[in-house]
This record gives sequence, structure tokens and C-alpha cells, in this order.
Amino acid sequence: MTTTVASKLNHWLRRVPIWPGYVLGFVPAAWWLYLGLTGGLGAEPVKALEQELGKFALQLFLASLLVTPLLHQTRISLIRFRRLIGLMAFYYMLLHLSVWLVLDLQLAWGEIGRELIKRPHIVVGLIVLLLLAPVAASSNNAAVRRLRLQTWHRIHMLVYPAAILAGVHYLWAVKSWPAEPVLYLTLAVALVAYRPLHRAWTRRRRARSELRTAA
Ligand code: HEM
Repeated sequence: MTTTVASKLNHWLRRVPIWPGYVLGFVPAAWWLYLGLTGGLGAEPVKALEQELGKFALQLFLASLLVTPLLHQTRISLIRFRRLIGLMAFYYMLLHLSVWLVLDLQLAWGEIGRELIKRPHIVVGLIVLLLLAPVAASSNNAAVRRLRLQTWHRIHMLVYPAAILAGVHYLWAVKSWPAEPVLYLTLAVALVAYRPLHRAWTRRRRARSELRTAA
């Protein structure tokens, strides 16, 4: 993409307000709930709702991790929207968990305990949520001001193991090798690998241009 196209797009994106995203972001959840209540989600509406919410959470989460590579590779900046996308991903994870706890298992704690022991992929999902809780909690202006930049960065590094584990949770939950979960896990691994690779590449390019200037 040429720099002019990217800068025109960025100019337009800068004028897009962010707050409506926090309302519009819940439209898919409301739609799936409506479908579930009106028989539009098939024979097992609770399972279907759980799956839709989990998949959308993963898609949003990976989309939030794509923002930086997109900026590096195309100059298109969605940085202003990254917090919105990441927080919406976290809210969808909470909805996914709530459907499992409340609608699926009806808060039967004994059953919940047995499920956790019997199905380790659910524990993996829980770990993802626990890893991302401090990230979500520090994704507000007050926390950014209060925390040292280095601490804030360290907390946000948790998104990388969480991305891999989220991909594993999905693949494990479906118990076979369909293309979709394999694709999400591959994307998660690629996004995690991108960071050190890009850093090494930038360092090498800088060293080369310093050598050229010195010569
Ligand atoms: C406490 C946390 C979590 C719990 C208890 C949980 C539970 C579940 C359950 C019960 C299923 C259905 C499969 C099955 O019946 O075994 C499932 C599937 C799934 N979960 Fe989670 N999950 C959690 C966290 C997450 C997170 C953090 C994500 C995304 C980032 C996620 C994404 C998915 C996806 C994509 C599926 C598969 C949906 C499909 O079959 O199409 N889950 N999860």
C-alpha cells in the first residue's frame, strides 16, 4: 500500500469516534441471544450461543494483536481502536464463560468442578482469562497514568501466551483438526513470532544503514 493511501485512510480513521464501538460491539451478542430465544440457534441453543461467543472473542482478540503488524507493514493505523477491540474481546470471553456457568451448567458447582477435571481444555480457557484479566484491568487511562510504563508493558506481554493458549483451547474443544481452529492457532503463533522477528529485522536494517553512513 502506498504511503498516500495509508495516510488518507489514517486521516479519515482519526475522525471516527471510538465510544459507539462499545455499544455496537454488543450487537452480535444481543443478536445471538435473540436467535437463541426464538429458536434460531438450532437444537442446542445454549451450546451454539457458547460457541458463537467463544469464537467471536477469539476473533476480536487476534484482531487486536494484528493492529501493530498492520501498522508496520501497511502504515494503516488502527492503534486508536486497539483498546476497544481488546476490551470487547475480553467482554466476549466473560460472556462465553457466563453462558457456560449459568446457562449450560446452571451454577451447579460440583458439576463445574467435575467438568474442569474431566476436560482440561476448559482449564486452558480459564488460564487465558486469568492471564488477560490484569491486561483488561490496566487498559484504562487511570491505570496507564498510575503504572510505570515498564510495568504496564510487562503486564501487556501476557497477551502473547494468552493468544497461543486461546488457539489451543479452541482446537482442543473441537477435538479434531478442522481448518478453522488450525488457522486461528497458526495465526496466533505467527502473531507471537512476529514481534521478535520484526525487532531483529529492524535492528539489522538500522545497523546496515549506520554502516553505509559511516562508509
Ligand atoms: C473460563 C474460561 C473458559 C471456559 C470455562 C470455556 C469453556 C468452553 C466450553 C465449555 C466450550 C465448548 C466446548 C466443550 O463443550 O468442551 C468452549 C469452546 C470454545 N471456547 Fe471457551 N472457555 C473459556 C475461555 C475461552 C476463551 C478465553 C476463548 C477465546 C479467546 C474461548 C474460545 C472458545 C472457542 C473458540 C470455542 C469453540 C467454539 C466452537 O466449537 O465453535 N474460550 N469453551
